[in-house]
Amino acid sequence: MRKTLLAAMLLIVAYAYGKNEISIETNHTQLVLQVKDDGRLYQTYLGERVTGIDDLSVFDMPRLRRSHTLSRGFEAYPVMGTEDFFEQALEIRHADGNPTSVLKYVSHEQITHEGYAETIIRLRDEVYPLSVTLHYATYADEDIIRQWSEITHDEKGQVYLMRYASSMLYFEETSYYLTEFASDWAREMQMSSQQLQYGKKIIDSRLGTRATMFAQPFFEVGLDGPVGEEHGRVLMGTLGWTGNFRFTFEVDNNGALRIVSGINPDASAYLLPRGTTFRTPDFYFTLSDEGVGQGSRRFQRWALRHQLHQGAEDRMTLLNNWENTHFDFNEQSLADLCGEAKALGVDLFLLDDGWFGNKYPRSNDRAGLGDWEATREKLPNGVPALVKAANERGVEFGIWIEPEMVNPKSELAEKHPDWIIRLPERDTYYQRHQLVLDMTNPKVQDYVFSIVDRLMQENPRLKFFKWDCNSPITNIYSAYEKENQGNLYVDFVHGLYNVLQRIQAKYPKLYMMMCSGGGGRSDFEGLRYFTEFWLSDNTEPVERLFIQWGYSQFMPAKAMCAHVTNWNSRASIKFRVDVAFSCKLGFDIGLKGLSEQELHYCQQAIREYNRLKPLIFSPNLYRLYSPYDGPHCVLQRVSDDRTHALLMAYDIHPRYAERVAPVRLRGLDSQSRYRIREICLMEGQKSRLACHDKVYSGDYLMKVGLTVLSASDMTSHLIELTRE
Ligand code: DGJ
Repeated sequence: MRKTLLAAMLLIVAYAYGKNEISIETNHTQLVLQVKDDGRLYQTYLGERVTGIDDLSVFDMPRLRRSHTLSRGFEAYPVMGTEDFFEQALEIRHADGNPTSVLKYVSHEQITHEGYAETIIRLRDEVYPLSVTLHYATYADEDIIRQWSEITHDEKGQVYLMRYASSMLYFEETSYYLTEFASDWAREMQMSSQQLQYGKKIIDSRLGTRATMFAQPFFEVGLDGPVGEEHGRVLMGTLGWTGNFRFTFEVDNNGALRIVSGINPDASAYLLPRGTTFRTPDFYFTLSDEGVGQGSRRFQRWALRHQLHQGAEDRMTLLNNWENTHFDFNEQSLADLCGEAKALGVDLFLLDDGWFGNKYPRSNDRAGLGDWEATREKLPNGVPALVKAANERGVEFGIWIEPEMVNPKSELAEKHPDWIIRLPERDTYYQRHQLVLDMTNPKVQDYVFSIVDRLMQENPRLKFFKWDCNSPITNIYSAYEKENQGNLYVDFVHGLYNVLQRIQAKYPKLYMMMCSGGGGRSDFEGLRYFTEFWLSDNTEPVERLFIQWGYSQFMPAKAMCAHVTNWNSRASIKFRVDVAFSCKLGFDIGLKGLSEQELHYCQQAIREYNRLKPLIFSPNLYRLYSPYDGPHCVLQRVSDDRTHALLMAYDIHPRYAERVAPVRLRGLDSQSRYRIREICLMEGQKSRLACHDKVYSGDYLMKVGLTVLSASDMTSHLIELTRE
């Protein structure tokens, strides 16, 4: 739940510095907005905190001297219809059809909440009864700024929001390099970079139910040079919206960059009823002057403290059955798997897809979605017997659901055809033989809530839900929205949040994994309600190194589910476990397929994982060697007090006679001495690392480094550093 507003201090600040300036600050970043003589609000500075920023004036802006086409500066929230010829943040079609608005400054205030400060700036159109409020929440210690706006009007006729961005930011640098995170099923978070030149680059999605399939809602922009890991200035941004998003990067005629972030307005002209307030989703950003490494550490720390559901709580290791059994199981085989979970040493058994449906049993993905009753033939004693079997064997029980979806072959579809998003009188297109329920309809919201609620009422000891979402919205038409189809994409997400809020209010301690046909849902708003998320169905360990590398740019390890599977049986169990070890560890294998030595390795790794969780979940991540740079990957986590660190080194597919350099560590105390110990060795194996069980100064480790990589195929080392 959102941290409740504790208005400790209410400052009505007319104008800071006496120059109509509003300064929005974290410990290292400053955003300055200024009201010009025309009464409108402009961004005059965004960058590192500056002493003497009050010398700044909108009239001093370098672009003013150069530009003939745009002589007034960077309007903080530009609206369609004025003299700005580039991408705008807002476009309102008024009741009389006029698409223009001009927003003038009214007032602002700065409020202190628990853990963050908020600047609220009120703007109003002088002609139309339209008000816009800009919000900037600043997390000083984490150097994160959260931005959103609220739009309301008092017009009699129909007013449409045509574009409604959450944020508009401007930069004036010599060059801009964008890193984006392209995706597909089993190929999530593939990073690539390009220099931005004149014109627009758009990253967006139109999947409806989820933010991503082809593009993830994250970006990084290197300012004055390409994005560097531990050097260079970089903006990192993301939108908290589990639906269609759009980032527009536009370099204008003067070489200035504007970044517009928000809901994707395509096919979403939103009818806003008079007197209601439209709140845009949150856009989050950090501006790092020490590369993306620093930005990632800030995002991870902030997420754990302020965003991730149960961010401060522990996480459970688990055994999932999807890769192992698919739909093929029964009460006895599941009870046996619960026993395997115990033998392995994990905390929970997670039952995946295929446990429900009676008229149309879910024995494959063509039927049953929507009918959330245990299949009597497979599971005669229902879910309670499974929870009992798990608990008797000493593990907790979790269950898979996909509550927003329906198979046409289901009792739900027969009973409530109008609850389904589907085009009347046209062919229907399916993804995975299923359709999406109309979450804009309050009755559907009640139904979706009741799926979790009923399971919880029946099984109070249920500890975990995996909430899947395997289809984007196809055949987009809502019987509930009627003539307001432009509201559908947005109201769908609001409907989803409504259900998630109800679940969270009633079951605040429930652990829930956000999953969407792999990593289709991975946004920060979703993570207000979910304790973790599924990164990808691709669990091949080498691919996972890339995928995890990508997500780690923004996400804390505590939220990143990584399961050991048989996707690449050529890779040793050690390599597969060690790759998952760096995230939220789980397994999705059958123990019968493991040798005794392999099982022992898993058991040992789980014990070590439990011991090292505080370190693995620490936000202090240093990415030392990128798999994008060569056939290795090295990650390091350091405790806040720098007494303890973990180095995770992976060799992928090295080239013949490759020269491998020592790896320099980071973030240690240079004056301290650290004992190096390789942990998690296969039974009977001794460490081959020359540094094993030796003591080095932090200074040495950071300047000279350790030889932990080798020219070998899919090998790994987990190395613990303890201050002596
Ligand atoms: C897609 C998920 O990503 C998988 O982990 C699994 O839960 C399947 N759905 C089940 O249908």
